[in-house]
Amino acid sequence: MNETKSKDTKVFASKIGAILAAAGSAVGLGNVWRFPTETGANGGAAFILIYIFFMLILGVPVMLTELAIGRHGQKDVMTSFEKMSGGRKGWRLMGLIPVVAGLLVLSYYAVVAGWTMYYAYEAAINGFAGKDAGQYAQDFGAFSADPIASVLWMVVILVMTAEIVALGVQRGIERAARIMMPLLFIFIVVLVVCSLTLPGASKGLSFLFMPDFSKVTGGTVLSAMGQAFFSLSVGICCLCTYACYFRKDVNLVQNGFSVAIIDTMVALMSGLIIFPAVYSIPGLAPDAGPSLVFITLPNVFQTAFGSVPAVAYTFSLVFYLLLVMAALTSSISMLEMAAAFFVERFGWKRPVAARSVGAICVVLGTFCALSFGEWQEVTLFGMGFFDLFDFIVAKLMMPVGSFLMCVFVGYVVDERVLRNELTNGGVLRQPLYPVYRFIIRFVAPVLIFMIFANELGMFDFLKK
Ligand code: PHE
Repeated sequence: MNETKSKDTKVFASKIGAILAAAGSAVGLGNVWRFPTETGANGGAAFILIYIFFMLILGVPVMLTELAIGRHGQKDVMTSFEKMSGGRKGWRLMGLIPVVAGLLVLSYYAVVAGWTMYYAYEAAINGFAGKDAGQYAQDFGAFSADPIASVLWMVVILVMTAEIVALGVQRGIERAARIMMPLLFIFIVVLVVCSLTLPGASKGLSFLFMPDFSKVTGGTVLSAMGQAFFSLSVGICCLCTYACYFRKDVNLVQNGFSVAIIDTMVALMSGLIIFPAVYSIPGLAPDAGPSLVFITLPNVFQTAFGSVPAVAYTFSLVFYLLLVMAALTSSISMLEMAAAFFVERFGWKRPVAARSVGAICVVLGTFCALSFGEWQEVTLFGMGFFDLFDFIVAKLMMPVGSFLMCVFVGYVVDERVLRNELTNGGVLRQPLYPVYRFIIRFVAPVLIFMIFANELGMFDFLKK
């Protein structure tokens, strides 16, 4: 049966392909950009410990839930929810989450992904060499505010993403993950080794690994939870979409833990690249905020390796290529979330669906890209388009979606169906299943409610 299944292009051909595709979705700008920035802003190692705690207690259980729902349906998210609920049609509406979230998240993510592509290009033509520190900030400001350049690079990312998705589940998504994920890993290891040779390495390491709990506030705890969500791509049925393509013999629990481990390792290793490099320049602090990757780092790489220009050149190029690959494997999963809907629900041909979703994102993404320049003044609910889209996805849809999924699986779904899915029909022993079930029914919904409340500002009094 597996033989015939593996020939079906709507199924990931191998178990490792399924892991790499899911890991590709999880590993993204969230790991290499957002994680170091959040760690820097929230006091280093203490934040990381709390983040790992939430990853285990919240991220992994919600991820397993998504995987079980998707794999049970084997078709698309709508079918999966209906089937898992024992045929209750209302739950099909959950299948609208990935379409809406996919379009919104990709539209703003592609803007930043476009920046990384432009920076890779700049690195390739040696455009960072010979500048003084102030110039990097000026250049980034000018580039992100330039309507033509920022939209153009975003379009490049969207075209690449759409064309990969158009190729299909095996030939597009799985193959891209099989090529890019190992390469990404090699790049990251090389950069970590180089960065650790810098004079600031020990300072960077102690920032990463020596927790200072005096810096922990209620806000730190809640930011760490939010980061765990975003980094694992959970809550908006992204992994649920991929799990529809998992073979019946995939061990979901093993898959989920592997993805979480890969994701956390990439995040930590990004820290091992960035913090030693930042600390190697006297007077620089890592809490540089979102500008860390596009202003501080190009400068740091040139200065830190300045004595050997070839090393500075290679280091910058490899770093930005790494970001591009991380962004691409995630953007592929975002586009697939929406494209799968049109393929399954409206019978569109895959290339048509992929390119149409890409085209919609070009339009929506242009609004987001322009919010850094021309349309800086245009706001809705007090936010520019970029911030608004991020708010809707990461701060509204992810927590609400996760909450609903926990309630669904914890209280609506027949427990035997869930257990069956996670144990592959009783073939696998899953000793942690009772713990998972307890978390999903009682712990996760409460924690998720807390994140949600935090995002809406209910815990603002905890932040100093
Ligand atoms: N997890 C991805 C990252 O770390 C972002 C993402 C969110 C991907 C939602 C898919 C869906 O960058």
